[in-house]
Amino acid sequence: MRDDSSGAVCAPRDSAAAQQPLQSATQVTDRARQRFRARFTTEPRVFRAPARINLIGEHTDYNDGLVLPMAIDHATAVAAAPRADRQVHAVSASEEVEVRIDLDSPGTPRSGAWGDYVEGVVRTLRTRGRRLAGADLYVCSSIPAGAGLSSSAALEVGVGRALLAISGEAMGKLELAAACQAAEHEWVGTRCGIMDQLAVLCAEPGRALAIDCRDLRMQLVPFVLEDMALLVTDSTVAHRLASSAYNARRRECEAAAEALRRFSPGILALRDVSPSDLARWQASLPEPLAARARHVVGEIARVELAVACLRVGDWDGLGQLMYASHASLRDDFRVSTVELDLLVDTAAGTSGVLGARMTGGGFGGCVISLVRRAALPLLEERLERALFDGFGLRPRSFETRAAAGAGEVIAHEGAGVQA
Ligand code: GLA
Repeated sequence: MRDDSSGAVCAPRDSAAAQQPLQSATQVTDRARQRFRARFTTEPRVFRAPARINLIGEHTDYNDGLVLPMAIDHATAVAAAPRADRQVHAVSASEEVEVRIDLDSPGTPRSGAWGDYVEGVVRTLRTRGRRLAGADLYVCSSIPAGAGLSSSAALEVGVGRALLAISGEAMGKLELAAACQAAEHEWVGTRCGIMDQLAVLCAEPGRALAIDCRDLRMQLVPFVLEDMALLVTDSTVAHRLASSAYNARRRECEAAAEALRRFSPGILALRDVSPSDLARWQASLPEPLAARARHVVGEIARVELAVACLRVGDWDGLGQLMYASHASLRDDFRVSTVELDLLVDTAAGTSGVLGARMTGGGFGGCVISLVRRAALPLLEERLERALFDGFGLRPRSFETRAAAGAGEVIAHEGAGVQA
């Protein structure tokens, strides 16, 4: 374990677990159904919520900016059936502790465990006027926790959709995303933006999702790779204390926007500052606020350019923007780690790679690389060797593509997903 300059304490996650191949969304859905039947001896309904990667637009969502995520084919599955009493009992394949929640009690304070997410969603849906029935839940996931692939939002959304459905209650995707975000703020303590919950709920296969996090307008942008591939490489380094470092970044961004407001009262968030304005004003900002603002303002501009690249199939252009995004997250926003930097540098030095960057909140987690399909085996091998030689870590890589957002898995097992 070591302290790095990002302010997070980094430690390798359970490396044995990190070596297991990740199950696909279909496998994990089948597993949740079978485990539920074995445990509760009744037939459940099953809800699937995917992981996401973010192509570009990091730490821009809570600055009212733009993001470009997509769902991937790993998921959390929640099998659920109603109970006769006013309790929610949740079991997880990967957690020893069973969570028990009394729907009519005010709720227990944070415990720092996975039950906070479940309890947060239950309480937030109730606060928003939904009448929830008692429920048994069985949760299975193929999303590694702490890898920056949004395992938290997938759990929140999966639990939320399951509880609403078996209670006969409805909630639109935008409202459910906001409820899950509020659950994370209030019950977990991370002041996350809205990107992950929206990506998990609204993504579509073969598309990236461009979201304007100010007005929540979304555009689906074709993302079909053909002779290109997108490789996700999990550094297997976890981000302990990442939540407090994340909240600190958010406070710095808010402070930067507030300080810049004296130049223009219309600045509500860093989204309202153009790159040319910032170039004129940044000398007035103390460090690290100037650096944080530089990242956010530049990154929002890069998302716009990336969407334009995708629309015309300019993969080289997208790749260059990914490298620039990583450099900015490393140098100005300081949320990368030495392991992530080594992976990106190794990718950049591999012929056939067009771009690479860390994805997600940072302080550990994953790198994504855009690579010509023919160069994929070489890239995987080089990334693995570099991280092992440099840090004794064995990263896990998998190729991915844009997958469907959350839905109920209906009919026979794994047969289909209904949004
Ligand atoms: C985490 C948060 C998101 C977003 C990213 C960084 O995943 O949950 O809201 O801020 O970090 O882009």
